[in-house]
Amino acid sequence: MTEAGDDTWLARNRATLARLQFAPQARSVGRVEHVADGIALVSGLPEVRLNELLRFETGQLGFALTLDVEAIGVVLLDQSESICAGARVSGTGEVVRTPVGQGLLGRVVDPLGRPLDRDEALGETVFMPVERAAPAIIERDPVSEPLATGILLIDALFAIGRGQRELIIGDRATGKTSIAVDTIVNQKDSDVICVYVAIGQRATAVQRVIDAVRRHGAPERCVFVVAPAAAPAGLQWIAPFAGMTIAEYFRDQGRHALLVIDDLTRHAATHRELALLTREPPGREAYPGDIFYLHARLLERAAKLSGELGGGSVTALPIAETDAGNLSAYIPTNLISITDGQIVLDAGLFAANQRPAVDVGLSVSRVGGKAQTAALRHASGRLRLDYSQFQELEMFTRFGGITDARISAQIVRGQRIRALIRQARFAPLPESVEVALLGALADGLFDALPPACIATARERLLAGAISGDEAAAVRARLDGIVQDLTREAGHRPSDGASAP
Ligand SMILES: Nc1ncnc2c1ncn2[C@@H]1O[C@H](COP(=O)(O)OP(=O)(O)OP(=O)(O)O)[C@@H](O)[C@H]1O
Ligand SMILES: [Mg+2]
Repeated sequence: MTEAGDDTWLARNRATLARLQFAPQARSVGRVEHVADGIALVSGLPEVRLNELLRFETGQLGFALTLDVEAIGVVLLDQSESICAGARVSGTGEVVRTPVGQGLLGRVVDPLGRPLDRDEALGETVFMPVERAAPAIIERDPVSEPLATGILLIDALFAIGRGQRELIIGDRATGKTSIAVDTIVNQKDSDVICVYVAIGQRATAVQRVIDAVRRHGAPERCVFVVAPAAAPAGLQWIAPFAGMTIAEYFRDQGRHALLVIDDLTRHAATHRELALLTREPPGREAYPGDIFYLHARLLERAAKLSGELGGGSVTALPIAETDAGNLSAYIPTNLISITDGQIVLDAGLFAANQRPAVDVGLSVSRVGGKAQTAALRHASGRLRLDYSQFQELEMFTRFGGITDARISAQIVRGQRIRALIRQARFAPLPESVEVALLGALADGLFDALPPACIATARERLLAGAISGDEAAAVRARLDGIVQDLTREAGHRPSDGASAP
């Protein structure tokens, strides 16, 4: 290096040094007192705030769930193996955030937005806090647009509207996830963005859902947020909140999002575990850590925004598991009172192969009826009443012969309803077909046919091109199909005796 070069180098660095300020800086460094089971008790950080993100010296992150005088309870968001007592911790001044945006579409991520599907960074995203305030009443519109599930029974009797919160509840393996996945699959031809949040499930079960959506639905408009059973409890805890934040991003763009949370029973168990470990005070409830407030805070964020705010919506389908059909247990009653209705699945019906195994008597949709289209509302008018009456009659007439003609007609109609609401997975029905089928049922078109023929009629109807067809045209085709079936059944009278 030349002498002149040395000079400029020196001058430059002198200038840099002159600009630097060496003053003592105060930074609080805490200390891990105890670490186990996904939580750490940390002392020496009195200024840390609730939900603040903390960083451990080994790089892991956690957030403050409880603030005590002596120690704060930190929930870890990473594996805790390399953290030990005495390790240094510092506050970051930030809250937990997750990436949101177009870049997430079609991806499988963990609740902090780290890709789980492939080694490729997310596209365009911005970070938003996982805990956000719910829209105020004045910022909302009433639920008025339908969110079609493609499941005849639900669209007809328990219609779901955009912005609604509808609980799907039932025992283990009664088809809860299937209803949610079918609803996601049915959004294939709609404009709805779907966010599926898996909490505490086996990785294979989650993979099945993702594969099903990839095979039958529109995965490019779906986001999968996965915190499997093996993930740290903290990640499982923030998963539904992260999913909600992701859905809210699309809502704020004036779009419509559907959020499935599978399931909140596991989330409650995780919360209970964390609340007990961090010694969070029980709050109002016997269940540690005020679970009602937690889930109400989460589900309150599902809403339909007013026109001034773009008119977007987040529809929530939380899932809950019951034990032996006990709807009056703590978590089910909590969730039933938070949501706008529930679809109750019955293990008995499921075992009897009546699927989807929806209990028509216990299920309800409190705001969706207003969102139902006029055609569907008209077509499904008497369905619920007819079906409930049939169920009662069936019980009474199980042991004796039926003599009354009116009663036997009701029973015949009921059996046809039962056959009609039976629906396979991944076979969503367009609304025009639902209306045509319900209309045909109400007009007694199927009464002369054995119940099994209804499935055949539906298959033949779907075999033709449907999308965009007028309901009247679909109905005309259905009439033709039923005539054919009646003729065929006439040639083989033995078929007429088959059981429902
Ligand atoms: N409409 C249907 N027709 C036929 N089979 C169905 C239907 N719905 C669900 N099933 C089957 O029932 C089984 C259980 O369904 P699913 O996994 O959705 O239940 P779940 O209640 O979510 O179970 P878990 O409690 O394990 O989460 C699956 O094998 C699924 O294929
Ligand atoms: Mg499930």
